[in-house]
Amino acid sequence: MENHTTTDPGVAQRYRVCAVEEIAENGGVLADLGHREVGVFKHKGRLYAYDNRCIHQGGPVCSGELLGATKLELDEGKQARREILDEDEMRLVCPWHGWEFDLLSGQAAHDRRYRLRRFNVTVEDGVVYVDA
Ligand code: FES
Repeated sequence: MENHTTTDPGVAQRYRVCAVEEIAENGGVLADLGHREVGVFKHKGRLYAYDNRCIHQGGPVCSGELLGATKLELDEGKQARREILDEDEMRLVCPWHGWEFDLLSGQAAHDRRYRLRRFNVTVEDGVVYVDA
C-alpha cells in the first residue's frame, strides 16, 4: 500500500488504510499492506488493528464476524434464562474453525495465553494509519 512514511529497516512502516468514517462502528476493513493483510476494527469509537493471520492454523481471522460475546442471562434462581450477545465484550470469530478473540486485547477467548498479532493504529486528519 502507498504512503510509507518510515523507511528505516527494522522499524515498522506506516501505512495509510482509509478515512476513519469508512470503518463502521462494530465493523472493520481489511487493508492489504503488500507484505501482509491487516484488519482494522472500530468499537465504541476506538480502533484496533490485527494481523489477518489466525494463530491457530493461519486462517483469515480478520475476515470473520465481529460479535458480542455470548453470555447466559440468569433468572432470580440463578438458572439460565437465555443466551445474550454482550456488545461490551466484542469477539472476532475466525471463519475457519471458530476460534474467538477478544477485540480489545487480541487474546483467544478460550485460552488467554494466545493472542493475535496487534499493530499500532492512529488517526490523523481523519485518516487511519497502521504501523506494521
Ligand atoms: S485457523 Fe482460525 S480458528 Fe483455525
